[in-house]
Amino acid sequence: MYDQHGDTPLLQVDDLVVEYPGRRRGTPFKAVDHVSFHIGRGQTLGLVGESGSGKSTIARAIQGLVPATSGSINVNGIPITTERLADRRSLAKVVQTVFQDPYGSLNPVKSVGSIIEEGLLVQQGTLSAAARTELVGDELDRVGLPRTAASKRPGELSGGQRQRVAIARAVITRPALVICDEAVSAMDLSVQAQVLNLLADLQHDLGVSYLFITHDLAVVRHITTQVAVLEHGRIVDLLDGDTHQEQWDPYTKKLFDAVPIPDPDIQLAKRATYAKSQSSTPPLTAS
Ligand SMILES: Nc1ncnc2c1ncn2[C@@H]1O[C@H](COP(=O)(O)OP(=O)(O)O)[C@@H](O)[C@H]1O
Ligand SMILES: [Mg+2]
Repeated sequence: MYDQHGDTPLLQVDDLVVEYPGRRRGTPFKAVDHVSFHIGRGQTLGLVGESGSGKSTIARAIQGLVPATSGSINVNGIPITTERLADRRSLAKVVQTVFQDPYGSLNPVKSVGSIIEEGLLVQQGTLSAAARTELVGDELDRVGLPRTAASKRPGELSGGQRQRVAIARAVITRPALVICDEAVSAMDLSVQAQVLNLLADLQHDLGVSYLFITHDLAVVRHITTQVAVLEHGRIVDLLDGDTHQEQWDPYTKKLFDAVPIPDPDIQLAKRATYAKSQSSTPPLTAS
């Protein structure tokens, strides 16, 4: 149902408010506070803010995983609903997410091939096993991994390779929008640059749009000039290619000067990635 095309932006978020219930019947906590933005087809919007500013909550609302308290989210002009599973399945064809920590999002006991295939099974259950294997191989190619990676487990890969697997799984069904939620934040700078280049190539080849979420303003500026800056659930600055640094909101300046901002979740993920990298040497080439 989210497949229709038209003149409307791919993603339109209007005056979105998301509240979480307060503890012990206290007042609700407003994690997202009257936020509006849109993303056109094949475009990228960066969403930047400190840890706790509401970035992931916006991502969850776009996927229909948390309800909007007020305001609206439209994908292809169709409102997002949290209610019906069938609608969420239909939304998954259009919106996919790549998370910060592939350890958390890739099942460690499954092979890379079956992980990438997951999206296909839900949506194209009629494909033969051979056809699925072929498609998975094509996606591995596309993200710069050898086809032989299909038989590996996530634990046999490096952090960068695992994120390539997560990206392959996200794009195999050609979603119109991919949400990258801190997708490169736990990586070393050189690996980060390679994955950012891969995302740019995919956008060029597939016309995919990105909502690129990060706490690191320097990273987002590598991938787009369109940036929304979030502070305590509010957009305090909207940058585009013409915005000069002198015009930045003081909070944006603070974010930029403070890079890298310590984020406890990201530090934990980095430590986990490091620990794993000490215990196994990835045999594949791409990082
Ligand atoms: N399920 C939840 N229940 C209550 N509060 C939450 C929940 N998830 C997030 N929050 C709070 O909402 C705020 C925004 O969280 P989040 O969207 O995860 O921020 P970010 O992704 O920018 O770090 C934080 O203060 C966080 O503690
Ligand atoms: Mg987050």
